[in-house]
Amino acid sequence: MSFEIINNIYWVGKTDWEIRNFHGKEYSTHKGTTYNSYLIKDEKTVLIDTVWTPYAKEFITNLKKHIDLEQIDYIIINHAEPDHSGALPELMKEIPNTPIYCSENALKSIKGYYKEEWNFVPVKTGDRLNIGVRELLFIEARMLHWPDSMFCYLTNDNILFSNDAFGQHYCSEHLYNDQVDQFELFQEAIKYYANIINPSNKLVQKKVDEILKLEIPIEMICTSHGVIWRDNPFDIVHKYVEWSKDYQENQISIIYDTMYNSTKFMAEAIAKGIKDIDNEVTVKLLNTSVSDRTDIITEVFKSKAIAVGSSTINSGILSSVNAFLDEIKGLKFKNKKGLAFGSYGWSGESVKIISEMLEMAGFNLLEKGYRVLWRPDKESISSCEKLGNKIANSIKNIN
Ligand code: FEO
Repeated sequence: MSFEIINNIYWVGKTDWEIRNFHGKEYSTHKGTTYNSYLIKDEKTVLIDTVWTPYAKEFITNLKKHIDLEQIDYIIINHAEPDHSGALPELMKEIPNTPIYCSENALKSIKGYYKEEWNFVPVKTGDRLNIGVRELLFIEARMLHWPDSMFCYLTNDNILFSNDAFGQHYCSEHLYNDQVDQFELFQEAIKYYANIINPSNKLVQKKVDEILKLEIPIEMICTSHGVIWRDNPFDIVHKYVEWSKDYQENQISIIYDTMYNSTKFMAEAIAKGIKDIDNEVTVKLLNTSVSDRTDIITEVFKSKAIAVGSSTINSGILSSVNAFLDEIKGLKFKNKKGLAFGSYGWSGESVKIISEMLEMAGFNLLEKGYRVLWRPDKESISSCEKLGNKIANSIKNIN
């Protein structure tokens, strides 16, 4: 499949309806994804990015239907992760001398990954490549989200090829933002931001400012996953700026796992205590053993505060809670409050462990946490409700 976007610029990527996990099993892709590759025909012909490794042969076969591969003058790799560079080995078997334009860091990561000495041309921000009537301008985007990430901008048609930035793992029969369900689209976009881009929050604002200063008109943003933003492309840019400012909604998430429901009863009582104080605040109860971790992290991203609970097991915490806390450690959430709770039978370490892990993940602890021996009784349920009151009050004045 391929189609013309505009003026001899073609989408030549791959729609992947089936994929359900990315980065191993770190990121859930309930709606599949796309690997967007673009072909620009001018006096010179340029291929921007490829597709994920398992689809390499299909990609080459498809590309050959469209163009004699020998006619490709330049390949641009905006980011070396194999979901975009994965077809390079197959492609380079066919056109081994074609120059590959990429950032200096991508040169290292492509070589590191494929162990090949292809004809690399390292570029940096401000470098230009004349392709005939139009020019490509390179803009490095380090840590958005890898050190090698880069954007490139096509003059005349005013298209920003942004690679992962502004993307979503979202597969649909349509490839333009104005053709798809807006709720689904932005749900996948915020999930992508929360789980992948959030650690680079500060760089997002800086990169947007840098691009605005270039005073280049942008009429379309062609990402490497999901839709092409052609209708009000700055909507997603503005969303990124909003999300980059330690974004929060009026939400508290209660995240827990439980062995025999005691910790679950505590979670429910905390939720009741929150609602007793503020019926407007969104409260989400998320059991880590049955909820998708990528989705839980999206809810954490939206939350002003989280309460995390686990039973104590073998002097530790339940493994699904541990995996969740371990993951949020690297996501650099800021200005969020945290609180630990949990039930125990004899040693009761879970609350202390959760509190320490929350602090390590950058959460501001509301108190040292609350633990209950065996089953919560009437009195301890009432204490959990009071804890809920406290969390609700703590976020009242946070905008
Ligand atoms: Fe879509 Fe960072 O790869």
